[in-house]
Amino acid sequence: MHPIFLVGYMGSGKSTVGKMLSARLGLQLVDLDTFIESRFHKTIAQLFEERGESGFRDLEHAMLQEVCGFEDTVIATGGGAACFHDNMKLMNEAGMTIYLRAPVDILVERLKHGRSQRPLVSQKTDAELHLFIDEMLQARDPFYSQAQMIVDSKAVLDFSFVDDIVTRV
Ligand code: S3P
Repeated sequence: MHPIFLVGYMGSGKSTVGKMLSARLGLQLVDLDTFIESRFHKTIAQLFEERGESGFRDLEHAMLQEVCGFEDTVIATGGGAACFHDNMKLMNEAGMTIYLRAPVDILVERLKHGRSQRPLVSQKTDAELHLFIDEMLQARDPFYSQAQMIVDSKAVLDFSFVDDIVTRV
């Protein structure tokens, strides 16, 4: 079976849904950020700091190309992976893509608690977070929306849409 890629904004639940989905389908899970961190023996924050965002995007693309060859795997991508280097095309050709779409309010609530390890938002205050996410989401949504399946996250801790995915893959 070709890989299943989960795409969507930071805080959309890719890692959580990846764990649930891979367990339900009996597939292995690869979290792309964790894969990158173990390959380079550095955190995502350190890689951003050392290489800048564009250097990080280059290596993220190279790692994504590598995991595209994996079989029987759910791949939880990083929030920007879908939006650079024509990576949506790459993933759509390699397997199945699923966009976990969530409204800004839900993303803000989730990111308030998971900011520190995410260099793009770690310095933002609660007040800045909403506008920042809103603007970036508008820029990124056209990329995520190229996914073959779109599922909606309707509440902060509600991942019941995983049942829906399982019936559709
Ligand atoms: C990023 C999202 C992060 C990580 C990096 C950049 C982004 O992954 O890849 O901090 O550009 O949205 P998560 O979506 O898992 O937080």
